[in-house]
Amino acid sequence: MAALQSLLVCIVVAVSITVIPTSAQLSADFYNKVCPQALPAIRAVVKQAIFREPRIGASLLRLHFHDCFVNGCDGSILLDDTPSFTGEKTVLPNVNSVRGFDVIDDIKKAVDKACNRSLVSCADILAVAARDSVFLLDGPLYQVPLGRRDARTASLNDANRNLPPPFFNFPELLSNFQAHGLDLTDLVVLSAAHTIGLARCTTFRVRIYNDTNIDPSFAASAQQNCPSSGGNDNTLPLDATTRRFDTVYFNSLLKQKGLLHSDQELFKNNGTDSDKLVFKYSRNPFAFARDFSASMIKMGNLKPLTGNDGEVRLNCRKIN
Ligand code: HEM
Ligand SMILES: *[C@@H]1O[C@H](CO)[C@@H](O)[C@H](O)[C@H]1NC(C)=O
Ligand SMILES: *[C@@H]1O[C@H](CO)[C@@H](O)[C@H](O)[C@H]1NC(C)=O
Ligand SMILES: *[C@@H]1O[C@H](CO)[C@@H](O)[C@H](O)[C@H]1NC(C)=O
Repeated sequence: MAALQSLLVCIVVAVSITVIPTSAQLSADFYNKVCPQALPAIRAVVKQAIFREPRIGASLLRLHFHDCFVNGCDGSILLDDTPSFTGEKTVLPNVNSVRGFDVIDDIKKAVDKACNRSLVSCADILAVAARDSVFLLDGPLYQVPLGRRDARTASLNDANRNLPPPFFNFPELLSNFQAHGLDLTDLVVLSAAHTIGLARCTTFRVRIYNDTNIDPSFAASAQQNCPSSGGNDNTLPLDATTRRFDTVYFNSLLKQKGLLHSDQELFKNNGTDSDKLVFKYSRNPFAFARDFSASMIKMGNLKPLTGNDGEVRLNCRKIN
């Protein structure tokens, strides 16, 4: 019996030695034993923040995306500039644009209090806050794999190279996603995150004045809020139901009412695979909910730091 046990121990040890280095995996139950209060604490702060300001759900979802696309989901977007590096906050797609940092600070305080110590990484907080925002705005609920650790550096240049701008055309969008290990389906379903939130005039001005594949009355009405010069920070909703995580985004693309040039690039009505996906999700909210969840998990798994790499930050804005 003892011999059998030690044989089993040997097998278990051998398996874990061979398994651990090959791929450090995230797991949905990472905090379940060590701090079962962690995820409810995050949910409570997100819920309160959305109650105060519905748009914040969109902002939290976008923070996770912009974190993951720059050297993986490692909380790097949260770091303030330091003498030794310029972080990601001032890169063009982020400056005056990404928001929600104060909510992330509130979550970090609440979750550290609930766990009696600094246990949950800022990168995991971003992933859970994004998930909870989608769910609280009537979108799907999925299990988030956890166990990410936080980066000890950030890079403005890497943010510049990796975040897709709204003037990208379809091939540029697809190759940007492919460079992150994501495919056409991921591009189409994740772009539908634009079912919630707002965009500034400066990000869609060229589209509403100069694109031809745009509904004329939609363009005229957007121009009311976004003059051909000035008013850069005026905002418009990214779809008509900006507080609800639904499939109206896809219906808008079918009607040439995508607000961003990059949105309408996904639907040209000439029989591409991208067109077909937009058609499919506009008609099938269940397929959208399922595929969006899967793509969020895929995006959330981009190059996480795990094991002893990185750290668990005490303050999401700076390294320990
Ligand atoms: C496909 C390439 C994408 C491009 C070119 C793009 C571009 C943009 C732009 C220009 C804005 C408006 C920013 C501003 O006005 O300051 C925006 C907003 C937003 N984006 Fe994207 N995006 C893309 C993909 C994604 C993805 C994959 C997600 C999440 C999974 C996402 C989530 C959001 C959300 C939720 C907002 C609204 C934020 C708020 O209201 O605070 N986007 N995006
Ligand atoms: C934190 O401390 C409180 C009070 O001592 C205790 O009830 C709770 O179980 C602790 N939580 C964790 C995750 O250790
Ligand atoms: C639209 O195109 C015209 C002609 O190329 C250009 O002069 C104008 O500045 C463009 N408008 C915007 C808002 O980009
Ligand atoms: C669809 O139309 C766009 C321009 O509107 C063009 O660039 C693209 O090649 C077309 N695709 C097909 C399959 O016809």
